[in-house]
Amino acid sequence: MNILVTGGAGYIGSHTCLELLKQGYDVTVIDNLCNSNPKSLERVQALAGKGLKFYEGDVRDEALLRRIFAENTIGCVIHFAGLKAVGESVAKPWEYYDNNLNSTLVLTKVMKEAGMKNIIFSSSATVYTADNEMPLKETSRTGGCTNPYGWTKYMTEQILSGIANADKTWSIVLLRYFNPIGAHESGMIGEDPRGIPNNLMPYITQVAIGRREFLSVYGNDYDTHDGTGVRDYLHVVDLALGHVAAVEYAVKHEGCEVFNLGTGVGYSVLDMVNTFREVNQVALPYKIVDRRPGDIATCYADPAKSAEVLGWKAERTLADMCRDSWNWQSKNPMGYGE
Ligand code: NAD
Ligand code: UFG
Repeated sequence: MNILVTGGAGYIGSHTCLELLKQGYDVTVIDNLCNSNPKSLERVQALAGKGLKFYEGDVRDEALLRRIFAENTIGCVIHFAGLKAVGESVAKPWEYYDNNLNSTLVLTKVMKEAGMKNIIFSSSATVYTADNEMPLKETSRTGGCTNPYGWTKYMTEQILSGIANADKTWSIVLLRYFNPIGAHESGMIGEDPRGIPNNLMPYITQVAIGRREFLSVYGNDYDTHDGTGVRDYLHVVDLALGHVAAVEYAVKHEGCEVFNLGTGVGYSVLDMVNTFREVNQVALPYKIVDRRPGDIATCYADPAKSAEVLGWKAERTLADMCRDSWNWQSKNPMGYGE
């Protein structure tokens, strides 16, 4: 079966393309490279020992999408393409709503014309309201987002569930990711953020490699075991395998289902720092600074539904995540950009 992967050159997309190829799927990628480097796809193909088809272009380009569906017999779409920086979305709301909403509208329009109605969508734990009890279940409260990025995920979930409600022949899987980190164990592909990283792990690896002086730990007065923020970190290869499981589910079931992809275990910022130092035996200077506006104390998943229905469970440990993130960063000090 041929899987169309939008945003396949990106961090999660590239790891998912590799796992799909390894499991015998054919892969077609569309990516406009606005936040990625085509080297990721060269390396995916080298690791898989198998080629994929790449279309450089925008998912909002209806004519290009029609051409892709005409030239390839697609069995399922995984829709990763989108803008993802929370802070940037506050500064550039129009760009975020345009990219993230219109890409989904154009994509589903062309899918409907082509008569191919299986789609997996990259949603986020950010759709849950901050006042939920932990762990977060798929039935926990959603909405009340604090930035345009979060709203695009919430709205896209609404759009897709509305489509499935109106036409029962669609098969839609909404995957709510928690905090993906790590890299493929080869160190050939990994996360390569542009500019100063916003997220914890890429910041940690850039401090460890000497590109940044120290890590700022955003607050140590939260109501957590050591006062620093707690999150559900998940290895990107486990996340990629979650997409393979979702494809297998989508091609067999109609309707719209939502799944959490997380480990169910929360670790604090200092747990991350200590594990990273121990596993990799590297220095990692940090300073405690003020809380980051908009952060919550604790966020972790209840992954039971994914285990029961998709048969998927995250297997890799925090030590694996720290080792693989460092392996990627130390082999590629400047990411793909050397
Ligand atoms: P990424 O930026 O590495 O990958 C996204 C890819 O989409 C990039 O290669 C980019 O060039 C491409 N792209 C963006 N807009 C496009 C468009 N209009 N047409 C074609 N290509 C386009 O991000 P990622 O971390 O791999 O995230 C993938 C998806 O998962 C995103 O939708 C993101 O919002 C979602 N997500 C990510 C996280 C996370 O922490 N990384 C958490 C929850 C959800
Ligand atoms: N943190 C630091 N220093 C840093 C970066 C982060 O102390 O330099 C802390 C944060 O305060 C938080 C934890 O590390 O406690 C994780 O922060 P990230 O920015 O890595 O991740 P978030 O949980 O804040 O955000 C992630 C995604 C968002 C998504 C959100 C909810 O980046 O896109 O999860 O799913 F919206």
